[in-house]
Amino acid sequence: MNDNSVRRDAWGSKVGFILAAAGSAVGLGNIYLFPMNTGEQGGAAFVLIYLICVLLLGVPVMIAELSIGRRAQSDPVGAFKVIAPKTWWKTLGALGVLTGFVILSAYTVVAGWTLKYAWITGTGQFSGVDSAGIEQTFKSFVSDGPSVILFHLLFATITVWIVTGGIEKGIEKATKILMPLLLGLLILLVIRSITLPGAGEGISFYLKPDFSKVTVRTIMLALGQAFFSLSLGMGAMITYGSYLSRNTNLVSSALYVSLVDTSIAFLAGFAIFPALFSVSELSPGAGTGLLFLVLPGIFNAIPLGQFFGATFFFLLAIAALTSTIALLEVVVSYFIDQLHWKRGPSALVVGSCAFLLGIPSALSNGSVDFFSGFMDVLFDYFFPISLASGALLICIFAGWKWGTQSVMEEVRSGCPSFKLAPVWTVLVRYVCPVAIAFIILGSVAPWVNSS
Ligand code: TRP
Repeated sequence: MNDNSVRRDAWGSKVGFILAAAGSAVGLGNIYLFPMNTGEQGGAAFVLIYLICVLLLGVPVMIAELSIGRRAQSDPVGAFKVIAPKTWWKTLGALGVLTGFVILSAYTVVAGWTLKYAWITGTGQFSGVDSAGIEQTFKSFVSDGPSVILFHLLFATITVWIVTGGIEKGIEKATKILMPLLLGLLILLVIRSITLPGAGEGISFYLKPDFSKVTVRTIMLALGQAFFSLSLGMGAMITYGSYLSRNTNLVSSALYVSLVDTSIAFLAGFAIFPALFSVSELSPGAGTGLLFLVLPGIFNAIPLGQFFGATFFFLLAIAALTSTIALLEVVVSYFIDQLHWKRGPSALVVGSCAFLLGIPSALSNGSVDFFSGFMDVLFDYFFPISLASGALLICIFAGWKWGTQSVMEEVRSGCPSFKLAPVWTVLVRYVCPVAIAFIILGSVAPWVNSS
């Protein structure tokens, strides 16, 4: 018959799917934003609030997204078209695809920087340089347009190449190598960090909650961070869920993915805080500059820092890669399922467009202020608000439109006895929407930001 009768791509194994989905979740959010927010928002107090958000809000929304995807066996737009035909819900899918595209273009720029930073650190260009010198190196690097674009292009090309390979032979195969590598490198860095002299102070900062720093903004950040980190609210889990078979247990999958994501974020704190406290008088709340301005100085001061610094930035690049793969796949699945394009051309065209969209920010004149401002706007406002709005609408869809009964019917195929179904129902129908509405209001209310 025609092309439509060709079997839809699918995951080769449950482990492969979990690694790929965890790869999507583990990214700059875990290794960069999580420690940064933890440092600014009261150490373990933030970690505790974050854990509650993951369990009560993240996991239920992930179960909803995976169910929608698997039921419809389609991209985010197609999923809403299949489950709620002739309604406006497909617009929600379209917004998700669009958000994925925007995140992708910003992400490949920063990811390109991490690759270049691995190179600069590994070749010893930071050795013996003081903090003013590091800032100078950062500035001259960021203002060196061709070099930034080269690394940005390199990153986009690797992403396109993996996605072109398909679900099982491209994404699954790559994440089966990248995720264990990421964990291995992270453990190596944690061991280095916690065995430095004076590391204890960093560990106690990280593990002792300082509730005096907790404000409404802390809770808002933890909520936004949970959705961002778990890749929720924009159809990524709908897309990955659409390649699952009927006998996969969606509940245990959501739990595993969240567990891996949260554990990696938690470990990243152990790689950063002990080293930070052992070396510098800088406050752990160094903010946006932590990654590119503070850490090179730390690696300078520790034994074998050149090697560990390069390893750290390489680790970031791997974490970013497993996320850009997922971001690209969301848009590519839309091109394949809705526009009936072939995978290869879809990946190439979408990847090229994301690359082009990233060029203006890549050419931002090397201004650290621009960098901070750009990142702050994206990560403090655009992502939390758009992902939270997406997650809110997904809860309303799953809880009220498609209906919790229908979602549970989908979940039961693969997980016949889901004992917590009533709890899930209450969370998705009431708790999540109210909590998420709170983040969205909180993000725009001036009194929250000034506190
Ligand atoms: N979870 C990623 C991180 O922690 C970022 C992200 C958000 C993402 N939404 C996504 C990645 C969708 C892949 C797909 O950095």
